[in-house]
Amino acid sequence: MKNIAVLTSGGDAPGMNAAIRAVVRTGINRGLKVYGIKRGYNGLIQGDLEEMDMSSVADIIHRGGTILRTARSEEFKTAEGLAKAVNVAKVFNIDGIVIIGGDGSFAGAQKLTVTGIACIGVPGTIDNDLAYTDFTIGFDTAVNNVLDSINKIRDTSTSHERVSIIEVMGRHCGDIALYAGIAGGAESIIVPEMEYSIDEICKRLIQAKNRGKLHSIIVLAEGAGDGLQLEQEISKRIDVEVRTTILGYIQRGGNATAADRLLASRMGAKAVDLLIEGKAGRVVGIKNNRIFDQDINEALAMKREFQEDLYGLADLLSNNQQG
Ligand code: ADP
Ligand code: F6P
Repeated sequence: MKNIAVLTSGGDAPGMNAAIRAVVRTGINRGLKVYGIKRGYNGLIQGDLEEMDMSSVADIIHRGGTILRTARSEEFKTAEGLAKAVNVAKVFNIDGIVIIGGDGSFAGAQKLTVTGIACIGVPGTIDNDLAYTDFTIGFDTAVNNVLDSINKIRDTSTSHERVSIIEVMGRHCGDIALYAGIAGGAESIIVPEMEYSIDEICKRLIQAKNRGKLHSIIVLAEGAGDGLQLEQEISKRIDVEVRTTILGYIQRGGNATAADRLLASRMGAKAVDLLIEGKAGRVVGIKNNRIFDQDINEALAMKREFQEDLYGLADLLSNNQQG
């Protein structure tokens, strides 16, 4: 292995820059030439790449987003697109690529590996929706961003004695809502993995009001419903004032937390070492604070388990279960 490359693909996530830095610096320090590919698989197809040096990744460890830019490439999913990408890799003598992204990006990495270009996947997505790893890069920052917003919304919510619905990202995975909801003391957390009843939510809101609670926070994952619709449903049923805040990209930007920078640094370095060891078609993950690697196909086939114990804890700590 002499020449390697790194790209970011799919939705960006804070900590991707720290991972790029780790890949570039580990690669150079181990005697490799490292290319940065722009705009995900599109950049590989178009030959939009350049050699990186130690200073090209200076001053980025903290920054959200990705200096390499990212994209969702439909062309790469086609046989022609894949063939063009392989061609570019061959022209630049690239033997291995570190792909930083989510499960879609990993599916692409697997296809490239089959053509003979060794790929290693590093999980970069705020959603934390990959079954094989405890955490993905960007998740912790997103949770902290949501928490910061919950704290602010709580102030105004209390002053006006209102119910606040906070809609967060997560189409299939409720982890952002779950973690931020527990840490923010939300009364209700609504996630795509668990059924919920609007009547039950309303009952809790009334009970909380009767106990003298000045505000209530409901954290809703986007995949479990629409915040504004839920607001209407609650307002139709009971006499409370409800306001909805859709956090959107607020939660995906900003400086990466220490946890994400550390995770990204460990995973980026591990990915390069795997390439040097001659490994291909593998993903890097973390379990019980240990960095490990696993076959991509195996990792992609795993079914995510929702942490029902945490969901139960949220309920226990936020509601008077004795009525
Ligand atoms: P994520 O990596 O965050 O899951 P996407 O699902 O949007 O994000 O995938 C990112 C990119 O990975 C896609 O735009 C496409 O270029 C590539 N990709 C996704 N699925 C496949 C696939 N089945 N085969 C080849 N490439 C894929
Ligand atoms: O996968 C990351 C994510 O932020 C999801 O939580 C969200 O549903 C989606 O990307 C939004 O994608 P887009 O970049 O197209 O707005």
